[in-house]
Amino acid sequence: MFDITKIRSDFPILSREVNGKPLVYLDNGASAQKPQAVIDAVTQCYSHEYSNVHRGLHYLSNLATDQYEAVRGKIAHFIGASSEDEIVLNSGSTEGINTVAYGWAMPRLQAGDEIVLTVMEHHANIVPWHFLRERQGVVIKWVNVDNTGALDPEAVIDAISPKTRLVAVTHCSNVLGTVVDIKTITQGAHKKGVPVMVDGSQSAVHMPVNVADLGCDFFVITGHKLYGPSSSGALYVKKERMQEMRPFMGGGDMIKEVSKEGVIYNDPPMRFEAGTPGIVPTIGLGVALDYLTSIGMNNIVAHEASLRDYAAKRLNELNWLQLQGSTPDKAAIFSFTLDGAGHAHDISTILDKKGVAVRAGQHCTGPLMDHLGVAATCRASFGLYNTIEEVDVLVDALELAHDLFA
Ligand code: ALA
Repeated sequence: MFDITKIRSDFPILSREVNGKPLVYLDNGASAQKPQAVIDAVTQCYSHEYSNVHRGLHYLSNLATDQYEAVRGKIAHFIGASSEDEIVLNSGSTEGINTVAYGWAMPRLQAGDEIVLTVMEHHANIVPWHFLRERQGVVIKWVNVDNTGALDPEAVIDAISPKTRLVAVTHCSNVLGTVVDIKTITQGAHKKGVPVMVDGSQSAVHMPVNVADLGCDFFVITGHKLYGPSSSGALYVKKERMQEMRPFMGGGDMIKEVSKEGVIYNDPPMRFEAGTPGIVPTIGLGVALDYLTSIGMNNIVAHEASLRDYAAKRLNELNWLQLQGSTPDKAAIFSFTLDGAGHAHDISTILDKKGVAVRAGQHCTGPLMDHLGVAATCRASFGLYNTIEEVDVLVDALELAHDLFA
């Protein structure tokens, strides 16, 4: 059973006030709050169980190593990978995508080779590809969304030419909430011999993910959006792609032997994990995944669908508010502008006075803002602990903002 009262009581920050009002936290797309279990795990680890991993033979090092390494398997299970050997632990999606760019794409792509992106991508799934454009002459091809924010998977497949070497696409837009049909894209891309990298930063939070079923070659997640600590996350790499990857960062732990003459690298996935990792954040992420699993991702989907449908209805009633993205099966993420209102920052400041936390700006999606023809938007992004009543608080605060600016 999905017990929203119990769930809310698991997140201590939700009982605080902001500007004298109960906090209504609708900035989950940027980062989610942490349940007590995650906070306790982090405290327990630093208080009683902390040491470096993979390095010592002493009790605490073995304990920390066991706890840290157990998370690899939890992540594999959470996203449906066939083996924990396909999971590279890291600081989050940005590092994961850069690992693919530096480790897989840079050694393989040449001037004139193409990468297919969509206009919905987050800068984390754009800038690393611009590096390849600037440094190696790689060509970026852009696929548009339609005016509902939907992405036609066939348009992505059609954009693949004989020169295309990679499709890099989000699973769920952080601005529009659009959910992308990855399975159709991977099937079409693979028929043309092209691997697919999926940015799962937002999707893994809102729906069950199964990378084997999606068929993608690479998939990235970010721990802090998954109710875990910041600087945690993972890159899934399909086994055959793992063999094709060159190490991205050099340092301890990713090597077996180093001499004056050369290096013998560690086996994957540790070959792609240089230096002391985010030990405690990763252990905390494991606890966050346990927490999500105990609630059940399907229960989270059902709860967030009711929030999405109610929020869409209430926001659509405001004829002075322009919503961006209206696909029916989207995640509960709403970006909007207000007629006659100032910058999105002004709206978010007024909402903040009412205790409502939203993000305002470009949301790290410059090409999408250009495509939509807006300078910036406000974004209300819901999480598993939000309520129908909080949608009403948001709408009341928006009405106040509209009255002030109209
Ligand atoms: N990617 C995060 C967001 O969309 C930071 O807000």
